[in-house]
Amino acid sequence: MTNKPKVFVTRIIPEEGLSLVREACDMELWEHELPPPREVLLEKIKDKVGVLSLLTDKIDAELMDANPQIRVVSNFAVGFDNIDIKAATARGLPIGNTPGVLTDTTADIAFTLLMATARRISESIDYVRAAKWKTWGPMLLMGQDIHKATLGIIGFGRIGQGMAKRASGFDMKVLYHDVYRRQDLEQSMGVTYADIDTILAEADFVSIHTDLNPSTRYMFNAAAFAKMKRTAILINSARGPIVDHMALYEALKSGQILGAGLDVTDPEPIPVDHPLVSLPNCLIVPHIASASVATRGKMASMAANNLIAGVRGERLPTPVNPNVYDGEIRK
Ligand code: DGY
Repeated sequence: MTNKPKVFVTRIIPEEGLSLVREACDMELWEHELPPPREVLLEKIKDKVGVLSLLTDKIDAELMDANPQIRVVSNFAVGFDNIDIKAATARGLPIGNTPGVLTDTTADIAFTLLMATARRISESIDYVRAAKWKTWGPMLLMGQDIHKATLGIIGFGRIGQGMAKRASGFDMKVLYHDVYRRQDLEQSMGVTYADIDTILAEADFVSIHTDLNPSTRYMFNAAAFAKMKRTAILINSARGPIVDHMALYEALKSGQILGAGLDVTDPEPIPVDHPLVSLPNCLIVPHIASASVATRGKMASMAANNLIAGVRGERLPTPVNPNVYDGEIRK
């Protein structure tokens, strides 16, 4: 028997976080590769006071009401579109996330996708592996220049700004759009604010760094692709549903745009028989933007600290819904 607060951790996360949770809580850990099925999650949380969730777990009003003793949900991600934040706040339930620690690692992969797609790296690897490389070819696998090209950044938060920093090393011209104009950063970062249509018309690369919300869902649709250059490349390391994937397929197939590099898809995982997967000009990786050893370790300890604070009734170090503390929180 233990008097430690009972918590459910919905997948194995790095030891930096698990050791903290184990020390402070009576932890039940879901040790499988796949997320707990919905009915299992609902069952598992019945005798718990805290949940450490992943972006693959749907945390909605039904789940929050399934056990009113749950005092905290700590998400192992900076994004929280898997959680109904309004419902949580209305119930006095603090939600935690992991902002800041994954900014550079995510910007690194967005820029990696940009470079790999522009220079056709995945096609080139396939070419060598298929023993098609017979000689040096003057017309072989020609791609797009990155240096001095125009990069359009949609969403100029921490990760969007990280992308701009990387682009400056390649002498790129950077246009950005965000609901909040960042005039304070424009001169120092050498970036220019533009409306979305200007970015679509002028950018050689468009990189998405906004969150998924009703106004960004399917923001990249057939109408948007029609406004882009035929040589443009789309990069998405934010959330899959910001892009209409069938419209993207049509745009890539018809030559409306040149290429796409995706870390996120809709749905996830993207079925292997999805038409996008077969396109040579669409590079897809399995939502690994924050997947460096160091960053996942930091995310784990941050998520653990949110969980532990929450079960103790303390303010979370990084709450998504700080306004929950304006009212009464769940005890
Ligand atoms: C997040 O944190 O939101 C990423 O998508 C996964 O690290």
